[in-house]
Amino acid sequence: MSDTTGDSAFEQAFHKSAERHERVWTFIAVVLLCLLLAGSMFFVVSDYGVVVRTDGFRRDPAAAATAPAADAGLVRTGANAYAVFMLAHLWTWTPSPLHMPQGAAITFHVTSADVLHGFEVQGTTINVTVILGVTGSVTDTFDHPGTYYIICNEFCGIEHQAMIGRIIVDPARPS
Ligand code: CUA
Repeated sequence: MSDTTGDSAFEQAFHKSAERHERVWTFIAVVLLCLLLAGSMFFVVSDYGVVVRTDGFRRDPAAAATAPAADAGLVRTGANAYAVFMLAHLWTWTPSPLHMPQGAAITFHVTSADVLHGFEVQGTTINVTVILGVTGSVTDTFDHPGTYYIICNEFCGIEHQAMIGRIIVDPARPS
C-alpha cells in the first residue's frame, strides 16, 4: 500500500515538474519564433519598404542626362559603322523606333534611368543587362532588312511585359 502511495506521490511530483518544464520550453520556443518573425519583418521592411508601389521606384532625372546623345539615334563612327545610345526607362526604350542601315556594324551603348532592365533584340544574340549607372556595350550587324523587336528580359515592374522597342533595318540602297 505504502508503495502505491509512494509511486503516486512520485508520479505527481514528476508530472508537476514535467508540466513546468513544458511550459518553460514552450514559452522559450514562442519567444524565439517571435524574435525570428520580428527580425524577418525588420529586414524585409528595411530592404523593400512596407508597400512596394510603382511610384516608389527611384526616378533619377540626372541619370537620364548622363546617357550621352540619348534620343539622338545613330551616330556615325566609321565607314560602315554606327553607334547608338539606348536608354531604358520605365517602361520604354529610347530611341524607338530606331532606323539603321542593313549590313552596318552597330554598337549599342545601353544604360538605365531607373531600375534593372534587360536589353534583348529578338532574332539576334544581343542581350545586355541594363544597370543604373553602368553602360553596357555590344556590337552587331543586321544582315537582313526588317523589323526587330527590343524586349526587356528582366522583370522591372507592372508594365515590364509592355516594354517593347523597335529596330527597323532599312534595305541597303544599290549604289
Ligand atoms: Cu524593363 Cu522589364
